[in-house]
Order: sequence, then C-alpha cells, then structure tokens
Amino acid sequence: MPDKSNQPRLEQLGAYPFERLKDLFDGHTPNPELPHIDAGAGEPRLPLPGFVADTLNKNLGGFSKYPSTIGGIELRSAIAAWLKRRYNLAEVDPVTQVLSANGTRESLFAIAHALVNPDTQNGERPYVLMPNPMYQIYLGAAITAGAQPWFLPCTQASGFAPDLASVPEHVWANTALIYVCSPSNPTGWIADEAYYRELLELADRHDFSIVSDDCYSEIFWQKKPAGLLEVAEKLGRTDFSRCLVMNSLSKRSALPGMRSGLIAGDAELIKRFTKLRSYTGPATPLPLQHVAAAAWSDEVHVAQHLDVYRQSLKAFFGVYGGDIPAGSFFVWLPVADDEAFALAAYEQQAVTILPGTYLGAEDSNGINPGAGFIRAALVDGPDAAKELARRLKAVRI
Ligand SMILES: Cc1ncc(COP(=O)(O)O)c(C=O)c1O
Repeated sequence: MPDKSNQPRLEQLGAYPFERLKDLFDGHTPNPELPHIDAGAGEPRLPLPGFVADTLNKNLGGFSKYPSTIGGIELRSAIAAWLKRRYNLAEVDPVTQVLSANGTRESLFAIAHALVNPDTQNGERPYVLMPNPMYQIYLGAAITAGAQPWFLPCTQASGFAPDLASVPEHVWANTALIYVCSPSNPTGWIADEAYYRELLELADRHDFSIVSDDCYSEIFWQKKPAGLLEVAEKLGRTDFSRCLVMNSLSKRSALPGMRSGLIAGDAELIKRFTKLRSYTGPATPLPLQHVAAAAWSDEVHVAQHLDVYRQSLKAFFGVYGGDIPAGSFFVWLPVADDEAFALAAYEQQAVTILPGTYLGAEDSNGINPGAGFIRAALVDGPDAAKELARRLKAVRI
C-alpha cells in the first residue's frame, strides 16, 4: 500500500523542547522537601493589567460576531500608533502595513509558508536562516515550508550575536528569509542598529526578506532595543521593503493567554501573508481586539512589568554572580553538561529549567551551540529569582 498520509516534512521535526524535557524527567521526582519552582517556560506571571477586565466586559457582545482575520481598523490603528511612538517612525499605515496576530507563535510559523518557494532553485531548495540556539518555531516553520534551515551560531565568544559572517555565499544566494530575534530568547543578546543595517544590505544584495521577532522588545536591562523598522526608516526605506516585524502582548503586557500580537512592515509582504491567512483564518475575537488596542495604548503597565523584571535579574545575579543579559527575562548559564544539570536541578532542588541542547540544533559541523547552557525564566518576581539562584548554585552534577 502506498503511504498516503505520512507527512515527511513533519517527520523531520524532532520533539518540541518541553516534550523532550518531559522525557528527560520521566521516572524522576523533584525533591519533595522543597516547593517546586517552574523556570522552564517563558510565561510571565504578573497580575492582569487593570484595564483588561473592564475593556473585556464592555465588549462582550463582540463574541457573537465573526472577527476579520486582519484585525479591526481600531486595533490596527492602535498598533500603528504604538509602532510610531516606540520607534519614532514618521508613518505606519494601519491599512496596508499592519495585521493583527494571534500571538507571534502562529505568525512566525505561518510566514515561512507565505514567503518560501519550496521548489528547487539553482539546484537546491531555498534556505531559511535563523539564530542557533533559537525559538524552535523558526525551525519547524522552515522545514514544514519546504526550506532548508541554515543556522547562525550564537556563541559566548561573539556576545551571542547570530554570526552573519559564517554564511557561505551559495547559501546567501539561495536565502528566502531570515529570522532575527532581539532581545533573544534564550541568550538575551540585543541587535544594535549596525546589525540591522548589515542585514538590510545583505537582504538587498541577495533578495530575501527579514522577519524580526521582537516579542521581548520591552524587556531590557539598560538600553531600549532598536528596531528593524526604525533602522529601515533612517536609511530612507519608508516602505519598509523586505522587512516584517512581529511583536506580542504576551511578554510586554503579561497576557500570554490572550494570544494577541502584531505583524507590521512591507505592504507587499503583508499582502502575501494576508492571502495565506485568509485561508488559515487565525482571527482574534473582537472583545480581545478591544483589550489588545487598550494594551498597545498604555505604557504604565509595561513600565511596571519592566521594573519587576529588572529587580528579578538583579536579585538573581546578586546571588548567582555573572553578567546580567542585555534583554529578555531569561538567564542563559554555562554548565558542564546541560541535560545532567537540568535533571540534577529537578531531583536535588525541585527546579524545572531547560537544557540548552533542546533550544539549539546541530549545525553542518555537528555542533549544537545550545549544548553546555541551561535556560531559566525569571517570571515569578525578585524573591523567587533569588531563591532560584540559590538553588541553581547548590546543584551538583
Ligand atoms: C522568541 C519568542 N518568540 C515568540 C514567542 C511567542 O509568543 P506569543 O505567541 O505568545 O506571542 C515566544 C514565546 O515564548 C518567544 O520566546
């Protein structure tokens, strides 16, 4: 019988990091004498911003209507206004340059399906470039869209900047898109203006699109991260050609359960993506669109959240030692053996963290730059961060 239902691209994907973690912990128990600390997932655990319940209540009637996939003009206008304020942009057109997203996860995945031609080009399938280690959605997106993933190593030696110089000419020539993530999950690296400028030059030279995952843009230690659209505009690219940015209310507003975010940039790319999304249909319910518009229009709650993250980072590194990352609420710590360390942290200290190996991929040299690191999320406030640091320091492998 022919194999009609097996999807070979899906088969190429490994298990998702949290599935691998479940397997690692299978048959092991956390130290019963300590309360469990879950620093595995990047899930902000802060109180709901005050406007959420009121705005939702006022707009409950919207649940009886089908929302449009692109998002209502009120929400897209609030997003455009936020982008203009945040990045000092002269103009963002809410009609042609902005879409609503159901969180960035789905849009980061789906975009590769809109922008990659899976047919062979010049004898090989196009490449999708991504940092390594990375948010694993980029990898899943590249593979299922029929592209070849190409990994940009992010190593301690280069401050965890994804290494553009390591990309061979034949890969650039066949690149369809590149994912950037700044501030980076998991390393905390932040792209500066020069990095974006270099990317834009490369994109023009080799004809590819840039997708910038900005979902930690409001979580930084000292310097507010620059943005791709801002750099594009400074270079006179007011149409944001080749650029798409994605951002989310999950981290900025601590609303991961609301599943709301934004996509913005090049109107041509937005148009292509809109076509795909008109079939996949990830529309945000209307009452949630109202909450989202309120969240993009308020910076008070964002500043309060940032204060908590900064206190948490300070508390953690005050005990653990080492340098505070430039951005995000993750700590990325070198250890001798990341899987052994994560298992020991679970058994000895009742702490859940992720081995870096699960967030990286083996590159063409057989190297996984995530190996030898663990990732912990500081999402429960400064006291919990201090306790987490004490416990991680006490782990023995
Ligand atoms: C780097 C990165 N991008 C995107 C996302 C997706 O977030 P959401 O779908 O909640 O917007 C996450 C979530 O953890 C992330 O870490």
